[in-house]
Amino acid sequence: MTDGKPVLVSGVKPTGDLHIGNYFGAMRQQVELVQSEKYKPFIFVANYHALNTMQDAEEMRKRTRELVTAYLAIGLDPKEVVFFKQSDVPTHTELAWIFDTITTMPYLMRAHAYKDAEAKNHEINVGTFNYPMLMAADILLYDAAVVPVGQDQKQHIEIARDTAEKFNRTFKTEVFKLPEPYIMPEVAVVPGVDGRKMSKSYGNVIPLFTSRDELTKCVMGIVTDSSGDRPENVYAIHKLVRSEGELEKLYDEHRGNYKMLKELLVEDLDRYLAPIRAKYEALKNDSGIVDEVLAKGKIEARAVSEAKMEEVRRAIGVA
Ligand code: ADP
Ligand code: TRP
Repeated sequence: MTDGKPVLVSGVKPTGDLHIGNYFGAMRQQVELVQSEKYKPFIFVANYHALNTMQDAEEMRKRTRELVTAYLAIGLDPKEVVFFKQSDVPTHTELAWIFDTITTMPYLMRAHAYKDAEAKNHEINVGTFNYPMLMAADILLYDAAVVPVGQDQKQHIEIARDTAEKFNRTFKTEVFKLPEPYIMPEVAVVPGVDGRKMSKSYGNVIPLFTSRDELTKCVMGIVTDSSGDRPENVYAIHKLVRSEGELEKLYDEHRGNYKMLKELLVEDLDRYLAPIRAKYEALKNDSGIVDEVLAKGKIEARAVSEAKMEEVRRAIGVA
């Protein structure tokens, strides 16, 4: 079922409007890995993970469609990848429960994501606490060999490995294979317009799908620092869409002329993003495509994960 190739698994939460930090930091690499044809890829919309923070049915539906459309627009080929919704494959939550029973509270309390969420708000929900168990299930159900993630998710992959080992040891089996994290290369942090990491929670983003006017507004608003040789925040974004060799020359030529450099950035960003924006708009009007892709993904993901789940049920003695 996996064509003998190592399996790649990646989940994406449908929260927030996509920005160029998401694109250059994660989405582009995921699509390139799929296009390399080295792996059997499973990519899914992590909607049950998103439910921890997004509890609005309309928004869930809308953002799910947007996310799937965005991935298709940037080149994910539904023929190459099993693309599905986490909630369409009930083995994920079933296995997460089983993992809950072999994992201790103190162990999960050491997770950075939990500690950060807890520091902000003591009344965190149980789903946020259990987040790594569902994520371990997402990964282990497919015998993932590689899991491409950003640096911030590395600990969750380690937890998935620990959980696989704990399960195998507890039930004296070799049901689960240990996954490797694949920290995506070039995931240099993309800065936002205020110079901090671009993030929807900071309100400093440049949207991935937007008009040229909006793009211009965002770029003109990039905070510049006049102490150095060049406006670093502008340059850091510019080098994502133009070679550094060319940029060195341009930034030298227009040294001190920040307005000009920003105009050049608008030009280059717009040229880079225009084709994917056009594809996104075209796909948005093709209402059947998202449903079609997800329906096909659901069938294949269910088939693969159900076979693993049967092994699990036998190993724990409920089947
Ligand atoms: P946000 O910070 O806007 O909430 P998410 O946490 O939803 O973004 O990120 C989704 C993916 O995009 C993650 O894999 C993350 O590593 C990547 N990503 C988000 N923002 C950036 C950024 N500024 N630079 C590089 N990668 C980013
Ligand atoms: N936690 C990941 C994130 O916030 C999303 C995710 C859920 C995921 N399940 C996964 C990523 C399984 C890789 C594999 O980005």
